Amino acid sequence: MTDIARLVSEIAQEMRGAAERGTVASYIPPLAAIDPGRFGLCVTLADGSVHLAGDADEPFSIQSVSKVFALTQALGKVGDSLWRRVGREPSGTPFNSIVQLEREEGVPRNPFINAGAIVVCDVNLAGHEPRVSIGELLRFVRHLADDESIAIDEAVARAEQTTGFRNIALANYMKAFGNLTHAPELTLGVYFHQCAIAMSCRQLAAAGRFLMHGGSSQPGAPRVVSAQRARRINALMLTCGHYDASGDFAFRVGLPGKSGVGGGILAIAPGQASIAVWSPGLNANGNSLLGTLALERLTEATGWSIFAA
Ligand code: DON
Repeated sequence: MTDIARLVSEIAQEMRGAAERGTVASYIPPLAAIDPGRFGLCVTLADGSVHLAGDADEPFSIQSVSKVFALTQALGKVGDSLWRRVGREPSGTPFNSIVQLEREEGVPRNPFINAGAIVVCDVNLAGHEPRVSIGELLRFVRHLADDESIAIDEAVARAEQTTGFRNIALANYMKAFGNLTHAPELTLGVYFHQCAIAMSCRQLAAAGRFLMHGGSSQPGAPRVVSAQRARRINALMLTCGHYDASGDFAFRVGLPGKSGVGGGILAIAPGQASIAVWSPGLNANGNSLLGTLALERLTEATGWSIFAA
C-alpha cells in the first residue's frame, strides 16, 4: 500500500469512530433521513491514481458543491462579464443570508452564497428552457467526472422546490433590483435541480480534476477552462467556498474547498490532488463537521496546504 492509501484508510477509520458527528440537515425529509454514520473519502492524485475509503462510492446530495460546476459553466458562457452581476468577495454571512443584498443593491457578494448561485443559474438559463439548462449542467458534470451514471435526485429537487422560501425571497429581491433576467420561478427551477445532483466521492473528486491540473482533467487532455480561470475558481473556493467559515477552513485545511449541506466537500490541492469527502453531520455553519476534520488530518499529514512553505 502506498502512503497515501494508508493515510486515506487511517483517516476514514478515525472518522468512523468519532463520537461527535454534527447534525444532519433537516430542512427537507430526504436529507433528514440520511444516516449520520456514513463517511466517504476519495483522493484522486495528479498521477491519476484513486484512493478510496468508507462510503466513497455511495451517491449523496452534492447541494452547494454544484455551485463550482455551475460557475464554471457560466464563466464559459459569458466570461468576465459575469462579475458585473456577482461579486468576488467573502460575504461573512451564512449561505442563505439576505441582509447584504439590500445594501449592495441586489448584487450578491460572491457566486457561492445562494443569491450568487441563483444569478449564476440565471446566466446559464439564457436561451434555454429550464429543463434544457439543467440537462446542460448535468452533461457537463458527467463529462468532468467521465461518468454517465451521475443523475439528479428528483425527490430532493421536489423537496427543495416546496420548501425553498428563502431562495424564492432572494430571487424575487434580486429581480426587484434588475439582477435577474428570467422569471424567478424559472431560474429557481434550475437552482433547485442543480442542488439535487447526486454524486459519490469518487465521482466528485474526478469532476474536480480540472482544478488540480490547471484547467484540464488530465495532463495533455483538452482544456475545460484556461489555467487562469482554474486558478481564479480555486481562489473563490478558498475565500468564499465555506461561507462565513471560509477563514476557518483556510486556517485548518488550507485548500480551496466547496461545501454542501448534504455533507460533501470538494477540496483541491493544486498540482497534487482532487479530494472529495462526505460525512452528513454539519457544524454550526452548515459545513460537514467530520469532512472538515478529515481534510485537516489529510493536509497536516501530506503538507498539501497551499500555505505550506
Ligand atoms: O439552497 C439551499 O439553501 C440548499 N439547497 C442548500 C445549499 C447548500 O448546500 C449550502 N451549503 N452549505
